[in-house]
Amino acid sequence: MEGPMDTAPVNPPPRLLMGPGPITADPRVLRAMSAQLVGQYDPAMTGYMVEVMGLYREVFATANEQTFLVDGTSRAGIEAALVSLLEPGDRVLVPVFGRFGHLLAEIGERCGAEVHTIETDWGTVFAPEQVEAAIVEVRPKVLAVVQGDTSTTMCQPLADLGEICRRHDVLLYCDATASLGGNPFETDAWGIDVATASLQKCLGGPSGSSPITISPRAVDVIDGRRHVEAGIAEERDVARGVRIASNYLDLAMIMDYWGPRRLNHHTEATTMLYGARECARLLVEEGMDAAVERHRLHGAAMLAGVRGLGLEVFGDVDHKMSNVVAVHIPDGVDGDAARAVMLEDFGIEIGTSFGPLHGKVWRIGTMGYNARKDAVLVTLAALEQVLRSGGVAVTAGGGVGAAQEVYA
Ligand SMILES: Cc1ncc(COP(=O)(O)O)c(C=O)c1O
Repeated sequence: MEGPMDTAPVNPPPRLLMGPGPITADPRVLRAMSAQLVGQYDPAMTGYMVEVMGLYREVFATANEQTFLVDGTSRAGIEAALVSLLEPGDRVLVPVFGRFGHLLAEIGERCGAEVHTIETDWGTVFAPEQVEAAIVEVRPKVLAVVQGDTSTTMCQPLADLGEICRRHDVLLYCDATASLGGNPFETDAWGIDVATASLQKCLGGPSGSSPITISPRAVDVIDGRRHVEAGIAEERDVARGVRIASNYLDLAMIMDYWGPRRLNHHTEATTMLYGARECARLLVEEGMDAAVERHRLHGAAMLAGVRGLGLEVFGDVDHKMSNVVAVHIPDGVDGDAARAVMLEDFGIEIGTSFGPLHGKVWRIGTMGYNARKDAVLVTLAALEQVLRSGGVAVTAGGGVGAAQEVYA
């Protein structure tokens, strides 16, 4: 039997990740992540932390002072936001239009909140009036909504929700994990109080860091629950309000760590911070509008391409995120077997979905580093072959040709 020392160095097979995320990381991000560590209070490190805050203000389109990283994958950011805002018994309203709405509701329940949901069919989004009617009925403290629900590819319009929330004195939390960087997102202009995201979708990095931004009025709510750890609290750190149920995800303490006081909390995940910093540098260098336009263009080419292959697109296409499309798996085709051929023969990963859509749709992403013409065309060419070998009658070059027309 082989012992542990017989393992080889990590050397993953070359892949083009064209699923709903994670996607192939931008090489610049990987290079940044190979840099040597510095101590957590080294001026170089605190300098990087300050830069990260500034860069993510640009990415989130906000002036919020409290803009930083939560260490952990996107759901760490989500949990930090919800556990820091919601006290046991607080009401939270979640419009559910896919798997990740259910996730917000579940996390709300784990916070001990009174969770109310409204649901719409997967493949559709909510009209603002539906959300407002539910707000009037439920009178929540927080409206928690996903912008782009990756499970269905739908993108919930948010601009009106911010205004509605302000009018009813509700805090607006948004999970922008899948959409940020690839679709318009205006934290301040849309009146969003807390937004969280991730690196592994349109930001072109690996999972493991969750950028967050917090409005001043949400900061007041969180600061009203400030309980500094016994071992580091000073006399001035008088405990306030109901203590946040998680230590690791306590945004009041994390704000003290990222703020000028640099009050020790966790040990910042230095390598992830290097990566997150480079992800934001890439976007800011390109310009947020240009990045959104790039995702629109390659998303439109992929959409035209899958239609050119004769595939039927799932859901309300007018409300689709730019960066991912779901298509119905043609009758008679084994969706998982076809994905396996895409991976094994072509080195290309595409996804299926969850729950009611598992095995019924494929999800194909064009995001971050892979929102590129060559990635789109190569994926369509491979998919054509896989469909044909699965017995589907496909027009030769129908996918690539339709995409090329978008690029013409
Ligand atoms: C919209 C949305 N929210 C939350 C998550 C959870 O993210 P993570 O797996 O990074 O914790 C995902 C992951 O795909 C997502 O797409």
